[in-house]
Amino acid sequence: MWERVDVPRVVLEDCIKCKYTDCVDTCPWDAFHEGPNFLAIDPDLCTGCGKCDGECPVGAIVAERDVPSDQMDFIALNAQLSRVWPTISRRKAALPGASDWASVKPKRQLLLK
Ligand code: F3S
Repeated sequence: MWERVDVPRVVLEDCIKCKYTDCVDTCPWDAFHEGPNFLAIDPDLCTGCGKCDGECPVGAIVAERDVPSDQMDFIALNAQLSRVWPTISRRKAALPGASDWASVKPKRQLLLK
């Protein structure tokens, strides 16, 4: 049985339409879930081990305590979407055009559920 060692991580808006998936290979808990153009972290599986910290090329993963005030809704969004999307356990190719979308904001309206 694992123990939570820190606060769970949260995937933020920057992931949308990029989905690099570099984060996935680092997770020992299979906490990532895959949607059409975004990944979500299951807060019940994430122990907050921090292995994915710094792995996202667009900086889309932060600890729950560091979620910016204008993206607080992504905490609940990660929880909701991780319950309905399948687990992803292996890194795969990023979405086409990921580098073009990396710095685009806002793009939350483009999230496909
Ligand atoms: Fe998304 Fe970054 Fe992972 S773009 S899929 S959070 S590596």
